[in-house]
Amino acid sequence: MKDGKRRGSVAHATVNDMIPVAKAIDVEDAKLAGEYFYSVPAVRSARVIETDTVPVTHPGPHNVQLVDATGAKEPIGIRIIEVPEDVNRTMLRDATPGFIAYVPNGSIKRGEMLAKTGDSGRTVPCATCHGEGLKGIGDIFPPLAGRSSAATARQLYDFKSGARDGRYAALMKPIVAHLTDQDIVDLTAYIVSLQP
Ligand code: HEC
Repeated sequence: MKDGKRRGSVAHATVNDMIPVAKAIDVEDAKLAGEYFYSVPAVRSARVIETDTVPVTHPGPHNVQLVDATGAKEPIGIRIIEVPEDVNRTMLRDATPGFIAYVPNGSIKRGEMLAKTGDSGRTVPCATCHGEGLKGIGDIFPPLAGRSSAATARQLYDFKSGARDGRYAALMKPIVAHLTDQDIVDLTAYIVSLQP
């Protein structure tokens, strides 16, 4: 972000809010912040529910999807819908209650197959680099298990579109080159279902 290697795929992308922050801090401070965040034990960000229909939602503040007050439902399609477990707590910036990630029926199993086998060379088994249980290896291969579904899908999309670039992003480009939107949804459903 500091080197201008990352940008949003769309105008309102959340990374656009991070770039000025990254540019403003010096490398020493960034390193200290990284050490601090790495020391905080990871928790699963969302409870995953496989479904055909989801609540109708609208974009709210802080990039949070708000459930329509009428209780109306709609088909999930090729999407993951992430909503707060407790919208009032989330709006107060309390991370404790977490999120619900609605994912399409069957997506976790399909994502697991793709992540573990690479589906005959379409991609590469993720654990080769991201380690056993996708818990990360060393300081180059980040942990994936249990992370935010919205952030995970966005990263896969951004590697593919080129919006996320940089020295180590080069390793991810061949991985995502042939992934469809459906693959990205399936892989994300599997990743978010794993225990960090
Ligand atoms: C050849 C090694 C390699 C393989 C195989 C690989 N990755 Fe990665 N992945 C990386 C590296 C290196 C990064 C960090 C990139 C960076 O620093 O910008 C990364 C980053 C990511 C990120 C972003 C994480 C973050 O912290 O923002 C996601 C999501 C991801 N990989 C998903 C996958 C999935 C899903 C698979 C399997 C289909 C996979 N990767 C297979 C090397 C790999």
